[in-house]
Amino acid sequence: METSENIADQLRVLLEEWAAFNATPGNGCTRLPFTQEARRAADCIRGRMVEAGLDVREDAAGNIIGVFPGEDTALPALAVGSHYDTVQNGGNFDGQAGIAVGILLARLLKQNGVRLKRTLAVVAFCDEEGMRFGTGYFGSKAMLGQITQEDLHHFRDKDDVSVYDAMKTYGLVPEKIGEARQDLSKIAAFIEMHIEQGPVLDQNHEEIGLVECIVGIQRYVITVHGRADHAGTTPMDMRADAMEAAAKVIAQLPDWARAEGDGTVATTGYCRAVPGGMNIIAGEVQFSVDVRSRCQTHIDTVVSKLRAALNTACSRDGVSWDMDCKLDVAPVDLSTSMLDLLEQSCQTHGYRFRRMISGAGHDALAIGQVLDTVMLFVPSKDGRSHCPAEWTEYADIAKAVHVLYDLVLAMQ
Ligand code: GLV
Ligand code: MN
Ligand code: MN
Repeated sequence: METSENIADQLRVLLEEWAAFNATPGNGCTRLPFTQEARRAADCIRGRMVEAGLDVREDAAGNIIGVFPGEDTALPALAVGSHYDTVQNGGNFDGQAGIAVGILLARLLKQNGVRLKRTLAVVAFCDEEGMRFGTGYFGSKAMLGQITQEDLHHFRDKDDVSVYDAMKTYGLVPEKIGEARQDLSKIAAFIEMHIEQGPVLDQNHEEIGLVECIVGIQRYVITVHGRADHAGTTPMDMRADAMEAAAKVIAQLPDWARAEGDGTVATTGYCRAVPGGMNIIAGEVQFSVDVRSRCQTHIDTVVSKLRAALNTACSRDGVSWDMDCKLDVAPVDLSTSMLDLLEQSCQTHGYRFRRMISGAGHDALAIGQVLDTVMLFVPSKDGRSHCPAEWTEYADIAKAVHVLYDLVLAMQ
């Protein structure tokens, strides 16, 4: 068996290499889907999978899939992986660490002369974050057959480029998106290793997080329509101020989440006024709402309060609103039998672990709706993530390789 130092070093080499595929060098990693950076990262990951001895292909959605055929190819396969896109000015570990762990797992199995009974597929998913098109889980949803031709035209980036056109520029054939759909009866389980992206493991000096549940997420872009007018000459009672209406709604959102409790969160992370002048009343305001909870009814309550507040805030003449749903995924409970196997492995290795919930979304959230799925976390230094300071020790990620090695042997 490879030493942990050796595995940590191999992880460092992969992750440092991929970090170079970045649109914002010196200011975190920005690798939005279907861009040149994404193309270079995908090609590089593909090359590393080939070197690891996997049969590799890019599917119709831009996912890279490396297959290590099992002894019995009739048995449903195990899939392990995560995503290769990043948020704007994000880090080098979110998603990518999970792909590196998958490649290392395949390398180790080969080096040790282990051929599993089941096929093992290592997957690098395209566009998990939804950063460019406001959506999320594009690659994993395409594998589940949940992306339609209409979606490809409907979802557009801030420059009004559709997913359809972006895919074409990237070298994919959007008309073939349906071909990314996998026969789910041929997949036994999905396993995702990810950085925690929060402070719990780091603060408690724990090494592995066993994820029992991933929060559900609803994501909207809301547009409030008003009328642009002179900011100095238009009396307060004669305005159709889109900003006033939007601000009243946005200000209440955090309290609705607090009222639900149970860790429910709600965020407006994006807001844009049009035309956007200091001396012009906003004619239009667009803002995002992201609501998450482990309990679907909490999400639904916050969203119904949002609709009611929009109706109230936009009741003045000349003000109206519309809402575009970008994402709607229910909370998911992960496989208890796989969690037990992971726990046994942590005990064998003497790793400190805890069972926990994921407040971040993951490909495992989309896939866990339909397949047996499990996730494990490794610590994020100071809990930082989605920012340039994101950091996880390579030696900590190496521990996840050992645990996953045990898991796939136990499940083969
Ligand atoms: C992705 O990281 C998300 O949780 O939005
Ligand atoms: Mn992320
Ligand atoms: Mn991620």
